[in-house]
Amino acid sequence: METVLSGVRPTGKLHLGNYLGAAINFVKMQENYKCFYFIADYHALTTHTKAAMLRDSSLNVLIEYLAIGVDPEKATIYIQSHVPEIAELYLFLNMFAYKGELEKCVTFKEKARKEGQTLNAGLLTYPVLMAADILIHKAHKVPVGDDQMQHLEMTRNFAQRFNHYYETEYFPIPQAFNNGEELLRVPSLDGMGKMSKSDDGKSAIFLVDDEVAILKKIKAAKTDGGPSMPNQIKPIEIENIFFLMKMVSDESTYQFFDEAYNNCSIRYGDMKVQLAKDMNLYVKPFRERILELQSDEAYVRKVARNGAEKARESAQKTIKDVRDLIGLNSLH
Ligand code: TYM
Repeated sequence: METVLSGVRPTGKLHLGNYLGAAINFVKMQENYKCFYFIADYHALTTHTKAAMLRDSSLNVLIEYLAIGVDPEKATIYIQSHVPEIAELYLFLNMFAYKGELEKCVTFKEKARKEGQTLNAGLLTYPVLMAADILIHKAHKVPVGDDQMQHLEMTRNFAQRFNHYYETEYFPIPQAFNNGEELLRVPSLDGMGKMSKSDDGKSAIFLVDDEVAILKKIKAAKTDGGPSMPNQIKPIEIENIFFLMKMVSDESTYQFFDEAYNNCSIRYGDMKVQLAKDMNLYVKPFRERILELQSDEAYVRKVARNGAEKARESAQKTIKDVRDLIGLNSLH
């Protein structure tokens, strides 16, 4: 059976981008694969998260995994730092990561532009830590959104180099995965870039958002004066609203507004109210379950403990094999 692995950084609440881009597949894939889903708290340290916030956010992401339907009986759910073997593999893989390629990584370049020389080394080697996450369980498939594509490519390179150097096929070469389709990029509500946790949450829909918050955010989404000619190409901010509608509304609702756009009768106000209504129905079951689980911390902690135990068992096996391959175990 193939192994699946993915994770989310505990830097805020899960939003629709996280869900549609990655987490929806966590739930689907747990039926047919051996799955590991984790909370990437080591990764969150690269942006210097305060301790109390990190603790709360990690627990929160775990709650949200459970709320969307990740089942601890089917998948192993754990917090990254509970599996210190990952840090050891990270050290080994650093020997196979080239400074030049790390510096070329787009996410690194963006941060470097903003922070310059004081950028920490953890950010530079972020893709190596990701590779360690994936390779520690010898994963084959990694359900992620489009923004993680380049990181996955780097994992493949590190794994290949390791295999080549030690003349082994030990690590499978993992693939980014979205149900056999292209990786997804869910747009932000402000018409600029992808939906993300930043921007005070104004342009992201969180799974825990209530009806009022959803309506307010969708109403504030950028639109234009409307099409002036039939069948006009949609500008990006309008395309984004249609994208979200395609994701959460009925096909017939989408068709109705698409036709209205094409014959220039569209009223964006009506479309937004409809989208907000459908969005609320879409996230409501998650919201309700999140609130329920928030009051059952004992259960959530138990899931984390059991998950850590299972994840460590798998990780320890890999680390032992890797130490053998590298030649580090000679005195044992
Ligand atoms: P993170 O926490 O930024 O996001 C978690 C997952 O959500 C996806 N995602 C999106 N997909 C589509 N549209 C969007 N607007 C959108 N925003 C976020 C991300 O692609 C991701 O799949 N580095 C990772 C966490 C990580 C990881 C790993 C993932 C650490 N180690 C190993 C997979 C395997 C991150 O920061 O994701």
